[in-house]
Amino acid sequence: TDSRTEHVAGRRFLGRGPAGPARPRRARASRRFRAAAPRRRIDGAAADMWRPPRRLPRPLRRAAATATATGPGRRLLLSTPIFYANGPPHIGHLYSALLADALLRHRRLRAPPSPGMTPSAGHGLKIQQAAAAAGTSPAELCERVSGLFRQALSQAGVAYTDFTRTSELRHQRAVRHFWGALRDGGVLYKGSYEGWYCTPEESFLPESQLAEGTDAQGRPCKVSLETGHEVHWTKEENYMFRLSAFRDPLQNWLRDNPRAIFPDPFYQCVLRWLDEDLPDLSVSRERNRLQWGIPVPSDPTQTIYVWVDALVNYLSVVGYPESHGAWWPAVHHVVGKDILKFHALYWPALLLAAGLEPPERILVHSHWTVRGQKMSKSLGNVVDPGVCMGQYGVDGFRYFLLRQGVPERDCDYYDEKVVKLVNSELADALGGLLNRSTAPSINPSNTYPCFSEPCFPKVLDSREAGGTGRACAEDYRLVAAVASLPVQVDTYFEGFQIYKALECIAQCVRQTNGFFQRHRPWKLDRRDAGEQLWLDTILHVTLECLRVYGTLLQPVVPHMADKLLSRLAVGPGERHLSGLAFLARYDGKPCPFEGRQLGPDTGILFHRLGKLETMKKRKQEAQVPDKQLL
Ligand code: MSP
Repeated sequence: TDSRTEHVAGRRFLGRGPAGPARPRRARASRRFRAAAPRRRIDGAAADMWRPPRRLPRPLRRAAATATATGPGRRLLLSTPIFYANGPPHIGHLYSALLADALLRHRRLRAPPSPGMTPSAGHGLKIQQAAAAAGTSPAELCERVSGLFRQALSQAGVAYTDFTRTSELRHQRAVRHFWGALRDGGVLYKGSYEGWYCTPEESFLPESQLAEGTDAQGRPCKVSLETGHEVHWTKEENYMFRLSAFRDPLQNWLRDNPRAIFPDPFYQCVLRWLDEDLPDLSVSRERNRLQWGIPVPSDPTQTIYVWVDALVNYLSVVGYPESHGAWWPAVHHVVGKDILKFHALYWPALLLAAGLEPPERILVHSHWTVRGQKMSKSLGNVVDPGVCMGQYGVDGFRYFLLRQGVPERDCDYYDEKVVKLVNSELADALGGLLNRSTAPSINPSNTYPCFSEPCFPKVLDSREAGGTGRACAEDYRLVAAVASLPVQVDTYFEGFQIYKALECIAQCVRQTNGFFQRHRPWKLDRRDAGEQLWLDTILHVTLECLRVYGTLLQPVVPHMADKLLSRLAVGPGERHLSGLAFLARYDGKPCPFEGRQLGPDTGILFHRLGKLETMKKRKQEAQVPDKQLL
């Protein structure tokens, strides 16, 4: 029960101070904890601890194993982080959401819909302070900011199935229940506690993560090494979570699930953390310091720590505590590297402590810098995704972020880079190819042209090319590359390397342009029967390639892909991966598209972006006053 109290005085949170790990001076253990001998002594509080099982319980291991199966139709929940509602969205937030959105859309291409979600956070000291600074209440601030997030995500076409807020009643009920499960599991105790607290990070920091800096008035102060934010020495009574008792279960979980944290460098990083100090975690704040949050059940003097509150949102959205079993633990969390520790250590430990399984996968991405600098309000270089989408188009900007964003490393943003990329790959290469291969001058009947087998006979090896047909070895290499593209793209999506999937598609588009250019179909004479067959075959192959690109690009540039597929007369029921059947005629099978009237929209697929100066002017005009207030 909550009345079990331990005092952990003078203890530092998350690591060592200059004098090594600070230890509690007094620890009065509960009867239950005293009964179990410690397996590993970490600190005084952890010494009298409940002992979690050495290996994960059987059902958990079984579930973890089946969860790695990747078959289509498998039920899966994809989550974005729960965004802080203390400021408007920036491109980093959008990137997190787009990764989840693209993964979800890709799954839907293969299988029946599975839900995605995009919650928005509402609690915490950070928000309480931001509201005070803006002269408003936390509730009003959250209302306004979550509206901005909703707007940005909708504008970006993020197909979320649920958008939750931590202020919702269903969530608060779930958090209280979760707290009860922790309490009943005997993993909470009350301790007097002090350490350096970083409000923007909503976390206590160990000395090793601190540096000397200056405050807003230029006075020397301690700052977070990673973010440069000022930290404050904070001393209070908190509830503590026995994180230290979960080293073995976490290590076992990771050992049994080597793809649980992805990409691999982040997995290795978490393993290293588990070899270091793993002190208990403060999971509440004094209510008089933090009113904007959920009170600890049966102790109104305490507010539940914002991270516990936010993480439980992943459960409340799937109906915890009643109906979450339909989804949990088939969950993939997409998170930025700065919140890895919360998701890969604290969250799985909390889940295990509450009798639940860790999430199946945690997909981690790095950060966007702007012209080599960290994005920050104080530097005034925060990039507004709404303005970018206005400038580059929704699909243009989606494409840029997903094509240039590499989860394993930080990526740099600047306007010229977006213009160059989308102009060359979307406007010129892809749009140009569609335009040229469907132009009335080359395809006057405006139909899906027929494939001629004698012009492009099937060969077992591209070296056999050039015999009876007109296709050359490079053409066969193109066909082979496009035929293997869906599997390649699938593999990259599964491996959380969307940028590589897009790189492969871009490479095939270039090859197709080469094919078109090489054979100069505009020079062929339709009045000659033989030439006409070859001309139609060139167009057929080109449109077939475009159909594959349009299908595969749907998760990334949904509007543009729709336009492309509609132009190619591909119906809504023909846009799934299962029925793709690229160049069926080459394999001697019928092609349902041959002879079909092409779609009526002959407009440009993607407009080339103009001069940056003009766009910058438009950017200024697009500033939303509400965002400037924050
Ligand atoms: N509220 C927490 C998350 C709780 S999840 C239970 C939080 N919110 S946040 O709004 O600060 O960040 C949301 C997401 O945006 C995180 O995944 C974070 O990594 C990501 N990004 C924040 N800045 C970023 C960049 N500069 N670049 C890319 N992503 C970044 O943390």
